[in-house]
Amino acid sequence: MTFDRIRTQQDYTDAHAKSVSDPEGFWAAQAETFTWRKTWDTTLVWDFEKPDIQWFAGGKLNITENCLDRHLEKRGNKLALIWEPNDPKERFVRLTYRELHDRVCRYANVLKRNGIKKGDRVAVYMPMVPELMIAVLACARIGAIHSVVFCGFSAQSLADRINDAGAVAVLCSDGMFRGAKEMPVKSVVDEALEQCTTVRRVIVTERVRWAVNMVAGRDVWLHEELTQVGADCPAEVMDAEDPLFILYTSGSTGKPKGVVHTCGGYMVYTDYSFRNVFQVEESDVFFCTADLGWITGHSYMAYGPTLAGATQVMFEGVPTFPDPGRFWQIVDKHGVTIFYTAPTAIRSLMACGIDHVLPYSLHSLRVLGSVGEPINEEAWHWYKTHIGKGKCPIVDTWWQTETGGILISSIAGVTDEKPSHAAYPLPGIQPVLLTAEGKEITENEVEGLLCMKFPWPSILRTTWGDHERCRQTYFSSYTGMYFSGDGAKRDAEGRYRIIGRVDDVINVSGHRFGTAEIESAINTAKGVVESAVVGYPHDIKGQGIYAFVVTEKPVEDPEDMRGSIIESVVASIGRIAKPDKIQFVSGLPKTRSGKIMRRILRKVAENELNALGDTSTLLDPAVVDEIKGGKL
Ligand code: PRX
Repeated sequence: MTFDRIRTQQDYTDAHAKSVSDPEGFWAAQAETFTWRKTWDTTLVWDFEKPDIQWFAGGKLNITENCLDRHLEKRGNKLALIWEPNDPKERFVRLTYRELHDRVCRYANVLKRNGIKKGDRVAVYMPMVPELMIAVLACARIGAIHSVVFCGFSAQSLADRINDAGAVAVLCSDGMFRGAKEMPVKSVVDEALEQCTTVRRVIVTERVRWAVNMVAGRDVWLHEELTQVGADCPAEVMDAEDPLFILYTSGSTGKPKGVVHTCGGYMVYTDYSFRNVFQVEESDVFFCTADLGWITGHSYMAYGPTLAGATQVMFEGVPTFPDPGRFWQIVDKHGVTIFYTAPTAIRSLMACGIDHVLPYSLHSLRVLGSVGEPINEEAWHWYKTHIGKGKCPIVDTWWQTETGGILISSIAGVTDEKPSHAAYPLPGIQPVLLTAEGKEITENEVEGLLCMKFPWPSILRTTWGDHERCRQTYFSSYTGMYFSGDGAKRDAEGRYRIIGRVDDVINVSGHRFGTAEIESAINTAKGVVESAVVGYPHDIKGQGIYAFVVTEKPVEDPEDMRGSIIESVVASIGRIAKPDKIQFVSGLPKTRSGKIMRRILRKVAENELNALGDTSTLLDPAVVDEIKGGKL
């Protein structure tokens, strides 16, 4: 038995057991279902202490041959992509697998024509247009390492990511549509590139048809380049362990780090998890609402669905434009059967009222998914009742940029579900809960730090340019374990419930930020001495950003000062990291050694003013009363 497809609870139990007793045999059987130019020599080499993790070493392949070429014979005329524009009045675009293959090959030839080659890093900074997915696959086709940067990040963030990766090219658009707004993209790239020396080429996709500045010798229009190339582009042969992409993500310290995923293992795991978690059938229409700039868009838009030969919807716009029924209108319009979104979107649509759902039948839906943050029970039930009409299983999928694919989730309609519980580890996944001292908790009905004790094929391999940082962040806290940074509970039946981050990472609307990153952005505002940022429960966003700010002089015009702090954050990180609350304080609660006691600030932000705990070790306990008094 290969367990390629789990259809029953028993299949799941058997597959998981097999994946633990013989992980190499289990994953080798999955890997054999793909097209390889050369079979691998060794299925798995691993050492979490270094860390050194290699899956399918010695194997040769190109992931795009598996996403595209191998489907041409049977699925050449099947729809690969249905692109729904921001404005429902604009025509949507449909591409079959044959057409997507053609577009990817042509784009890949444009990359080659512009001197981009295997191993080069390419930054992709584009709105959700078909060319974004095409560009990503085109990079993979020629073996260039893509680094997609979400369009909500600022010029500064883009520049930091370009410089860290040493990117030689940027793929972007002229501008973007987002709800009722039109926003610049190319000019943000231009601003970023003032700080970058490695970029030789910028390839611009036309979307909003704005006049943009084109730098001679550096910038070219995609549509002009496409007239110069053909559709034949043989795939570059890659090693299973060659990097496929870099994706920057925030941690509790320092700047965002470039998580590196490699070709072979990532391919095997994203395909396997996609098909099994969502129970994908040939006739399904999958709609993931994430942006391709996040890991969800990489694993369950660009790669998982194309590897599986599925049809998917890609949406350019926002859930509330032109009205909060937009997602449901898209579901009915394109006959979406599997819908995958984030709790923050569910909560905000729930808040808009059921009247925006009622006009739509939603009868095509079969499976619902949730990702990115804990889903509270109220949102879970609303999703189940009003969107799934009580009949669609909900998969609450827990995973991370670093894990490459879903690790803990129920399997749609196969394993049971329980509100707010991600539930069971997928085959191949061996979670453990640890005490703070690193002792494994083996019983059920417990809570602990969520770690993995065995590698799966799509685990991160390194952080770009700084392997030591990877080791320290994920593999050094507890020997022999991958540490996720999340806390979790395990119930009597062994289901996992994710509680949230135990480090200084805040999850705002499913987007990850390090508190340190936001603080350094705030500290660049004129007149700011220092700041401390914590998360607090937010009805829609899951967590909001609460900033405590110390200024040089007493603040005369708080609104004006808040405005300039927000401006600094928008400039350093992007509009997605704007603090929700900014409280001015004369000092921060610090220990005698100068460490900020975030625990106290967190309690204040959470409005638990009577649960501050022991404050006697503080350098200046009086500051706590002032902070409590000024709580927003
Ligand atoms: O805290 C967990 C939360 O999101 C973090 C990972 O963020 P990121 O790398 O941006 O990837 C998000 C999309 C996979 C985790 O450490 N998280 C993700 N999924 C869930 C979740 N928390 C609870 N339940 C989930 N289903």
